[in-house]
Amino acid sequence: MSSYDEERGYDPAFEHGFDHDERGPTPPRRRSTRKPKRKRSVRDLRLPQGAERATSTTAFADPDLQGLYERGYFDTLLGEVKGGKEATVYLVAREGRRYAAKIYADIETRAFRDDAVYWNDVFIADRRTAKAMKNKTRAGRRAQQAIWVAREYAYLWRLVEAGLPVPRPAVGPEPSVYGAAGSVVLMEFVGEGDEPAPRLSDVRLDREEAADAYRQSAGILVRLAELGLVHGDFSTYNLLWHEGKVVLIDVPQMMELAVSRSARGLLERDVHTLVASFRRLRVQADPRALLAEALGAANASL
Ligand SMILES: Nc1ncnc2c1ncn2[C@@H]1O[C@H](COP(=O)(O)OP(=O)(O)OP(=O)(O)O)[C@@H](O)[C@H]1O
Ligand SMILES: [Mg+2]
Repeated sequence: MSSYDEERGYDPAFEHGFDHDERGPTPPRRRSTRKPKRKRSVRDLRLPQGAERATSTTAFADPDLQGLYERGYFDTLLGEVKGGKEATVYLVAREGRRYAAKIYADIETRAFRDDAVYWNDVFIADRRTAKAMKNKTRAGRRAQQAIWVAREYAYLWRLVEAGLPVPRPAVGPEPSVYGAAGSVVLMEFVGEGDEPAPRLSDVRLDREEAADAYRQSAGILVRLAELGLVHGDFSTYNLLWHEGKVVLIDVPQMMELAVSRSARGLLERDVHTLVASFRRLRVQADPRALLAEALGAANASL
């Protein structure tokens, strides 16, 4: 089957069984304004053929994606990798080199509900912004989204620079640069060809590999604690398995032990979630030992 489609272009989702939305036979509708959506398919992001274009280089309905495209960060949108709760990850390329573009859902559809525990400790210096965020006005949600994306870039850069195995961001490291990326976190694509690396929650490993994956994952958690950081959602769902190496993803909710009052509680939770999530891989680890090690590393660094 050819995965090339005149209208959609090359879409490896067809070839590699990536998650993607149902695509019916109906041709795309012409739209001047895009409806806010929680999950967007590749088709939603592209401008339909024959649509009015602001300039000859306008290719995407999504303004943030269009901005990155115009600035040369990527030249091709290849397909969808995976839709998560708050964001959908797409595969894009620049001169043949693959990148992952994590695009957050439209702010109108984002609940930010699950994030409450993290937001409690984010200090918003501007009183008007803090009020707008508290009242969940449109401006408040817009600010919240911008902060969330900036946090993801900032932590990814910090971790890359500290030598931790996370995808290297493709925008920045200057905040003035990644600040203009809108709702898109563009980063190194972890995978082989067009095939994304599986999450440790999905992969089958033999006993030795599983033990090694746990050692690496626990090592990352301890190293983070040593840097004074807590991931906040540390489980096999946010750990990719790539060429025998564990790669940590999904970092916008990261917390600082020295600043956040909830961070110690989150560290304890991360330890328990990690250990529990490894049971599927038949690894029986002791959460108390890992917590003691992490706290020791954290205390030594404070
Ligand atoms: N850099 C990457 N390279 C390859 N695949 C990636 C990359 N980043 C994310 N993914 C894939 O996309 C999925 C969603 O990414 P991520 O966990 O960052 O978003 P999320 O919205 O928080 O998802 P969820 O709510 O499911 O945790 C991941 O589980 C992973 O399979
Ligand atoms: Mg995730």
